[in-house]
Amino acid sequence: MLKGKVAVVTGGSRGIGKAIAEKFAENGANLAIIATRATEEAKKFIEELKEKGVDARLYTCDIKNPEEVESAAEEITADFGGVDILVNNAGITRDNILPSLSIMDIGDVIDVNLKGTMFVTRSFIRQFVRKKNGNIINISSVVGLMGNKGQTNYAASKAGIIGFTKSVAKEYGRKNIRCNAVAPGFIATDMTDKLSPEQVQEINKQITLGRLGSPLDVAELVLFLASDRSSYITGEVIKVDGGMYV
Ligand code: NAI
Repeated sequence: MLKGKVAVVTGGSRGIGKAIAEKFAENGANLAIIATRATEEAKKFIEELKEKGVDARLYTCDIKNPEEVESAAEEITADFGGVDILVNNAGITRDNILPSLSIMDIGDVIDVNLKGTMFVTRSFIRQFVRKKNGNIINISSVVGLMGNKGQTNYAASKAGIIGFTKSVAKEYGRKNIRCNAVAPGFIATDMTDKLSPEQVQEINKQITLGRLGSPLDVAELVLFLASDRSSYITGEVIKVDGGMYV
């Protein structure tokens, strides 16, 4: 479905981003993975992709730093000769009730999740405009739509991504650039591993399908949005949440 395409996946070395990268690779894409650090796990993942014949490379970059983002984007473009698909997946949480959130907890979450998504998109948009072709998929969250106690900073950053997605879709639709957001519910990853079994039980009660999702559930939707099968979909926010927010 993505044969010969070049995809950038931020935070693509683990969790949901890794599942997206794997799904893209299975479908013929080459991959530029952006991660904060070149961990052993990240390097191993790149090697595994290469063994499968995928041109996969790792770029270390902190997406909240616009200079680092700009130089990573230049390097990726030079290495691959251009980019077709951008998945803004990197994100963090710093959960607490509002008065207990430090200024840093608020700043970091907005800086990585919202500003980081904007910086990375900004760095690739010119080449998409030049080619009159590009596809951007932003990973938001269902809490960006429904809100959540203990996650005011995170929900605000994810709601911001939705406004950003719709605006980019409108600003670049005539240039044949699509931009959509995916809003996962609770997905079993390192991010949710911090939850106690009791918390997971409580969460399951709120989910229509009665269970957490898997990174693969999200990856299937992202693959659809990245492919031409969704060529008439832009500015959309699609939930993949097991019916958590209906
Ligand atoms: P994770 O913690 O397993 O992975 C996050 C990735 O983002 C890592 O690869 C990390 O290196 C990267 N990252 C973090 N800060 C970065 C920075 N400053 N610069 C570059 N890369 C950075 O998280 P998970 O669960 O895979 O989440 C992926 C995305 O999905 C996030 O945006 C998250 O908010 C979103 N999401 C996750 C849900 C879940 O239940 N796990 C639910 C809804 C949304």
